Amino acid sequence: MEEEHTPGGIHPSFVKVIEQKKRIKDRLGGIKNKIGVYSAKGGVGKTTISINLAFTLAKRGFRVGLLDADIDCPNVTAFLGITEKMDISGFPLKPLVKDGVKVASTAMIVDDMKKPIIWRGPIIAKMIGDFLENTDWGDLDYLIIDLPPGTSDAPLSIMQLLDLKGFILVTTPQRVASMNSLRSGLMAKRLNVSILGVVENMSTGRISDSTKDIIDMLGTGLLGVVKFDGAFNRYSDDGVVTAYKDADIAEEFAEISKGV
Ligand SMILES: Nc1ncnc2c1ncn2[C@@H]1O[C@H](COP(=O)(O)OP(=O)(O)OP(=O)(O)O)[C@@H](O)[C@H]1O
Ligand SMILES: [Mg+2]
Repeated sequence: MEEEHTPGGIHPSFVKVIEQKKRIKDRLGGIKNKIGVYSAKGGVGKTTISINLAFTLAKRGFRVGLLDADIDCPNVTAFLGITEKMDISGFPLKPLVKDGVKVASTAMIVDDMKKPIIWRGPIIAKMIGDFLENTDWGDLDYLIIDLPPGTSDAPLSIMQLLDLKGFILVTTPQRVASMNSLRSGLMAKRLNVSILGVVENMSTGRISDSTKDIIDMLGTGLLGVVKFDGAFNRYSDDGVVTAYKDADIAEEFAEISKGV
């Protein structure tokens, strides 16, 4: 059966997205800057950068929230050692607070984190929309959003539903990482989301040629470099923020935080 179109000729599914976007805008009205941390490539350090940046900004005195937008593999709570669940007996949901940072993740509403979440795209998109619409962050200077890899479902929903200040693109010195970060950057551009800059993670300390290339191609800048350091694995396994413990890493994140 042919779907009914509105008098303006907009397809009903778009009307729903526009309406939800308005509700999310109202719900997140107290947030000054929403910043996504993104790369289409998995495992380049999006979650690591999101967490360390969020807690560095909080240490500098800003009011900060951290949203885990990775629905099927939410890692933020594990990295931070948060085992507490959100109270889902009433709406809106309230983020949990760790060291002054408000943190929300769907891991906080899932009973058994060992069970795989096997959902198709539309369900992921619905979960992101509902989660954004129903979480009360209050007033914040920064909401840092940890995105999953890929250029489809979840990143697309975040780009469509949130009025982001922009993305931090994460890459590593490996050419395949920069190639996928370039893809993410081009997707953001196509959807009219700004790119705040690039972070080269797992770096030798000297920015690689492939990172330089994507910075040029995207017409953006370098926000900072984070060296490869085993401390990240050790501290995150203990649920500790690495930038709070290691002076060199703290300095790297202080630099990145100044850039945003
Ligand atoms: N600078 C670094 N030096 C050494 N190890 C790092 C560094 N950054 C991140 N790691 C480690 O690399 C692994 C992947 O990091 P992380 O989970 O942050 O990546 P991701 O991009 O969020 O992954 P995914 O795509 O699965 O969401 C983790 O074990 C993390 O501790
Ligand atoms: Mg991640």
